[in-house]
Amino acid sequence: MSSARNVLLIGGSGFIGRHLAAQLVEHGHTVTVATRNREAHRDALLELPGLALIEANVHDAGQLAELLPRHDAVINLVGILQGKAADFDRAHVRLTERIVNACAAGGVSRYLHMSALGADVNGPSMYQRSKGEAEAIVRASSLAWTIYRPSVVFGQGDSFLSLFARLLRTVPLLPLAGSTARFQPIWVGDVARAFVAGVEQPQLAGHTLHLVGPRVYTLAELVRYAGRLAGHPRPVIGLPDWAARLQASAMQLLPNPPLSHDNLDSMKVDNVHAAGFAPELGWQPAALEAIAPGYLGSEQRLDALRQQSHTPVQH
Ligand SMILES: NC(=O)c1ccc[n+]([C@@H]2O[C@H](COP(=O)([O-])OP(=O)(O)OC[C@H]3O[C@@H](n4cnc5c(N)ncnc54)[C@H](OP(=O)(O)O)[C@@H]3O)[C@@H](O)[C@H]2O)c1
Repeated sequence: MSSARNVLLIGGSGFIGRHLAAQLVEHGHTVTVATRNREAHRDALLELPGLALIEANVHDAGQLAELLPRHDAVINLVGILQGKAADFDRAHVRLTERIVNACAAGGVSRYLHMSALGADVNGPSMYQRSKGEAEAIVRASSLAWTIYRPSVVFGQGDSFLSLFARLLRTVPLLPLAGSTARFQPIWVGDVARAFVAGVEQPQLAGHTLHLVGPRVYTLAELVRYAGRLAGHPRPVIGLPDWAARLQASAMQLLPNPPLSHDNLDSMKVDNVHAAGFAPELGWQPAALEAIAPGYLGSEQRLDALRQQSHTPVQH
């Protein structure tokens, strides 16, 4: 192992952050995770030795400046999939600007930035445009930055395959928006490993790393696969765009909509990278088929058990 680093992880309480925090700790690094709500996340994260979970408002320049000292590297994983233009601007663009400025002012030069495959200032969705604007801010900075662009990320605790598997348990068939959109899913273990490499290898500075898996799938193929693995192989029926738009309009009325018009806009461009997984990293990413059977089936069994334990006993 290379020498231990003190890493500040912003947006580290979510799906990818938890896997990354665990790998950083395994590699002997000291990790501070900044969250907006410490109580909500203390469960699994606090079990890691060498990890401090700190409640902070990272949008506040003063609080950000207080967090930075004694850290060798800052990782920004903050991201949202839903919201209005102002929400994307705040979470992706303005926050990146604040973090980059705070790093420059605080003398922390190593900055690892989570973007997304398809990030593009001229992209079809607010998500892609705001991710593209954030990348431009990072590239224009004086920091030793590395930008990460994953396709859709799968693994234990994801809200992608696991979500569809759960959904297929409860419906006889699934009408699916964006069914022909193409993705190149990447395992969260490889994404986390790529960030650990960024912390340990200064030569990755100045690189934009595309994180994609070995194969391309349509969304319908992925959803059918999730259903089969979870033991609920249901028919998946692709919706035409007008029907997908109606579905998104209805779902946008829910508190945490699983689908938005912006998501549909994102799917107008394929989420694939023909050149494959970042050659700078020097390893081959895991195949979906090697990982997904290991967690999808067991997550579904646990869900079923939890449901049984909430079902009143009949006398
Ligand atoms: N999952 C994927 O398939 C995928 C694919 C490509 C790119 N990405 C990118 O990878 C990053 C992490 O994704 P994830 O799946 O781990 O997401 P996640 O589980 O939703 O976690 C998002 C994190 O961002 C923080 N956050 C959200 N909104 C925020 C806001 N307004 N201000 C400050 N912090 C905020 C949350 O922190 P607290 O709630 O603790 O404050 C949380 O830790 C995101 O940037 C995402 O765009 C993900």
